[in-house]
Amino acid sequence: MDSLEARLRDTGQEHLIDALARLDGPARTRLEAQLNALDLPQVHRLVQQLVHAENALPYADLEPPDVINVPASTAELARDRQARAVGEDLLADDRVAAVLVAGGQGTRLGFDGPKGALPFGAVSGRTLFTHHAAKIDAIRTRYGCGVPWYVMTSPQNDEATRAIFAADDWFGLDPESVRIFVQGTMPAVDRVTGRILLEAPDHIALSPDGHGGLFPALRRHGVLDEMRERGITTMFTFQVDNPLARVARPEFLGHHAGAHAEMSSIVVRKRDPTEPVGIVARSRGTTVLVEYSDLPDEFAQARDTSGDLRFWAGSIAEHAIELSLAERVTEDRAGLPFRKAVKRVPYLDDRGVPVTPETPNAVKFESFIFDALPLARNVVSVEVVRGEEFSPIKNANGNDSPATARRDLNREYGRWLDAAGVTVPRDAAGDPTVDIEIDPRYALDADQLAERIPPGFLIDGPLFLDAARGNGGRTAPT
Ligand code: UTP
Repeated sequence: MDSLEARLRDTGQEHLIDALARLDGPARTRLEAQLNALDLPQVHRLVQQLVHAENALPYADLEPPDVINVPASTAELARDRQARAVGEDLLADDRVAAVLVAGGQGTRLGFDGPKGALPFGAVSGRTLFTHHAAKIDAIRTRYGCGVPWYVMTSPQNDEATRAIFAADDWFGLDPESVRIFVQGTMPAVDRVTGRILLEAPDHIALSPDGHGGLFPALRRHGVLDEMRERGITTMFTFQVDNPLARVARPEFLGHHAGAHAEMSSIVVRKRDPTEPVGIVARSRGTTVLVEYSDLPDEFAQARDTSGDLRFWAGSIAEHAIELSLAERVTEDRAGLPFRKAVKRVPYLDDRGVPVTPETPNAVKFESFIFDALPLARNVVSVEVVRGEEFSPIKNANGNDSPATARRDLNREYGRWLDAAGVTVPRDAAGDPTVDIEIDPRYALDADQLAERIPPGFLIDGPLFLDAARGNGGRTAPT
C-alpha cells in the first residue's frame, strides 16, 4: 500500500503532511492513526462531487406524491379507525421498535450537551429525553407490549447521553429495554478548498455521519440481528428535537402495514415555501424525499390551480421502516449516498490558530434516513395535523425554537383539555394564558385525558398533569 504521505498527496490533502511534520511522539502517532482510519479516496470523491461541483437537484421530473390525507369524511375516519386497529395489533404483538436518532450536534440551538437533555418543559423543566421516555412507557402500558427503545448517539455525545440515562435511572424504564448505540463519523472539510479541517494539532475535525448513519450503525452494533431475534418487523424512527412526536402512532403504523410498505413517512403541510423541511415527491415512479437545500426555488414556490403549494408535503422525519429494508440497505458496503451539509465547524488555521467561525465554513458529509425511500418496495406517505405532531426545536430563538415548541404544546394540550370539558384560560388570540404540560403517562392523547381528568377540574395557574402524583395528577409548578 502507498505511504500515508502519498495517499494524502493523491487525494488533495497535502496540508495534512505539513500538519504531521509539525508533530512528533504520541501526538504524531495519534494523527497518523486517525488519518490511516479514513477512507481517503472516498473523501476525495465526495469533495469532487459535493464541494467542487454545483448543487444539482438529485431527482428528475418531480411530481407531487400520493398522500393519505388527514381524515375529513366519514369514510376517511372509518379508514383511519381500521388503520389504527392494525397498528395497535402490531404494537400488542411486540413487532415494533422505537428508534430515536439523537446523534446530532445541535449547532443551531447552541445548547451545551446532548439536545435530548434540553430542559424544555414549560412547567416541569423536564428534558426532551424524559418526555420521549414517558411516551414509550405509556405506549407499553396501553398496549401491554415491550416496544424496545433504541437510541442512536454519536461519539460527540455518547458518553454524556449514557451518563444522563444512568443518572435519571433510565427514566423509570427497565434498562434492559433501552439500548444506546453510537453512529459513525466523517471528516469535515473546508467549504471552499475541500481540505480536511484540523480541530487540534493532532486531531482532525470529525462529525457524525448524518442520521442515515443509523443503518450502518444498526448493522455494526448487531441491532438488526437483535431485532430479528426479538421478532421485531418494523422500526418507528423519530428525532430527538420534536417534543410533539407521536411515537409509534398506531394509525400511521396501520397505514404502513396495510399497504405492505417497506418504508413510510409522516408529512405535514409546509408552513411556507421556504420552511426548512424536506418534501416528499415522486420522481419517475419512485417516491423520494428532496432536502430543502436541494429543492430549486421554482419547485418550492410552485402553486396549483387552487393557489396551494404544489409540493406541500413536508417531512417531519418520522418513518416506519421494515427490518427487511434496513437489512438490504446495509448488505452493500456503499450504503446510502452522502450529501453535503454546510455548517459552522471550529478549526485551526494554517498557522495553528484556533478559529471559531461566525458563519458556515465547512462541509460535513452526511447520509440521510430518507434516502432509503427509493430503495423501498412500497412507500406510503401519511399526512398529520402539524399543530398536533410537529414543533421541532432547531434554533435558540425565533421559528422552531424552545419558545415556539412550548407555545405549540400549550395549544395542543389546551385543545385536549377543551375536549375534556375543562375551561382553559385564553387570550384574545385564543392561546392559553397559562403554561400546560401533560405527562404522557397521565394521558397519551385527548381521549385518555377525557377519561382520566376528574370532573370539575379547574385550572388556576401553570399546570403539569403528572401521572406520578396524586391530586388529580396536578403538581404545583416548580
Ligand atoms: P438535524 O439535522 O436538525 O441536526 O438533526 P442537529 O445536529 O440536531 O442540529 P444542527 O443542524 O447541528 O443545528 C435532526 C435529527 O437527526 C439527528 C439529530 O440528533 C436530530 O434528532 N442526527 C442528526 C443524528 O442522529 N445524527 C446526525 O449525524 C445528524
